[in-house]
Amino acid sequence: MKICVIGTGYVGLTTGACLAYIGHDVICTDCDKEKIAGLRQGRLPIYEEHLPDVLAAGVQSRRLQFTSEIAAAIEAAEVIFVCVGTPPDRDGKANMAAVEQVTRQIAEVARGHKWVVGKSTVPVRTAERIEKTLRTYAHGRFTFGVISNPEFLREGTGIYDFFHPDRIIIGRDHAGAEACMRALYAPVLEGRFDCPAHGRPAQACGWRAPVWLATSTASAELIKHAANSFLSLKITYANAISDLCELAGANVEEVLRGIGLDPRIGPQFLRPGIGFGGFCFPKDLSAFHEIAAELGYDFRLLAEVQAMNDARPRQFIAKLRDALWVLDGKRVGVLGLAFKPGTDDIRLSPACVIVRELLRVGMRIRVYDPQAMERARRELLPPEGSAALEYCESGEAVAEQAEALLILTEWPQFLALDWAAMAARMTRLLVLDGRNLFPLGQLEAFGYEYISIGRPTNLAAVTLQPEVALPAGS
Ligand SMILES: NC(=O)c1ccc[n+]([C@@H]2O[C@H](COP(=O)([O-])OP(=O)(O)OC[C@H]3O[C@@H](n4cnc5c(N)ncnc54)[C@H](O)[C@@H]3O)[C@@H](O)[C@H]2O)c1
Repeated sequence: MKICVIGTGYVGLTTGACLAYIGHDVICTDCDKEKIAGLRQGRLPIYEEHLPDVLAAGVQSRRLQFTSEIAAAIEAAEVIFVCVGTPPDRDGKANMAAVEQVTRQIAEVARGHKWVVGKSTVPVRTAERIEKTLRTYAHGRFTFGVISNPEFLREGTGIYDFFHPDRIIIGRDHAGAEACMRALYAPVLEGRFDCPAHGRPAQACGWRAPVWLATSTASAELIKHAANSFLSLKITYANAISDLCELAGANVEEVLRGIGLDPRIGPQFLRPGIGFGGFCFPKDLSAFHEIAAELGYDFRLLAEVQAMNDARPRQFIAKLRDALWVLDGKRVGVLGLAFKPGTDDIRLSPACVIVRELLRVGMRIRVYDPQAMERARRELLPPEGSAALEYCESGEAVAEQAEALLILTEWPQFLALDWAAMAARMTRLLVLDGRNLFPLGQLEAFGYEYISIGRPTNLAAVTLQPEVALPAGS
């Protein structure tokens, strides 16, 4: 099929590259001309595992092209995927300016018949608005159907998620829309592809047929926001339990494992930390809250989740203050800036919230992230004129003269750092692990004082005491 993808960010680029990989002719376009020029020269704007190979395969087979001529890309396509950003407005609502702009562009240049597929995360009833906008500005020059196909990929495993989705949701209010999407996704639905990660047939790489769920467009749009808000809630619940564990002297790992073994709850997303971030959960949560309010429903549970999540970085800084007493002028090393491992994305990352606040209170910071350094240099700017933020070439280098090391993203690479050598470079042996990356006891063995989330800091508390022997004859 001939496909146009508008918006070549994390979602659009991954989707476009994967659609070309399964045999479609794809043109990716974006209003960011620099990004498109880079892609044409083989420069990737994001880090995503396996994406370079999938892109290279598409370019080599000539099934994947990039252009900044949006009109030409629209004209050539039967199916147009809208993957532009829907960032949060100041009031928490999803900003729909890009979606509207793209819709009008489609209306102005399209001819024949087009399927317009929304992949961006949007408020419920956006498909209706897209349809109305197309009708208003198309003046009958072409026929169209609007489809909602919410995206569930996770940054860091985006390529895997495209080929191994648990479900594909198709919101459609038009005859023929579902058949079109079934044909488009047929190779993924039927496992007819060689896994990009292993080069082996899908069946040899754990592929299982995804659930195909066709709904109304309104339901599909709601599913996406409801799913992300539920996951945010689950993380926040784990965080609350970790606070309770600290107060009660229990171990959150044990408690959450005990909860997650119940199949009605499940173990995933029950990991406490410094809060959720990224370009999805925080903005989708607030957008969903605002959508509910517009519909006349007071979804105050979501407001509470948001407030509790916003407090996580402050709670972590309070722990640091408790350990160091005075923060102003002290030096700390920071490991991790990305909102989660496997990505270079620092948008709404709690790690960045913490770094900014520590800079504001006068701390000096050496920082390292395996993938996010380039983006951080561009976007995580220290207060004007401040030289307090230093970017390091390695994880070990952040330890230089540090009074504490802060683990803010759970990159597995941090487990393999030379912690003994780092200890020798530090002023004080203190680690605050905001992600519970290390098992208890591991860093203590190097002499570090180790503070994590919801777990005892006093090792004696986690070492089992010998059973008390009863006196003979009792
Ligand atoms: N990132 C994720 O993990 C993820 C997962 C599921 C859904 N989503 C949703 O998908 C959408 C895109 O997210 P993303 O992370 O890919 O965003 P992104 O910022 O990485 O990419 C958006 C792209 O759209 C382009 N763009 C913006 N306005 C445009 C316009 N008028 N015309 C053409 N191009 C335009 C931007 O230049 C950018 O390249 C959002 O609605 C997001 O909520 C994201």
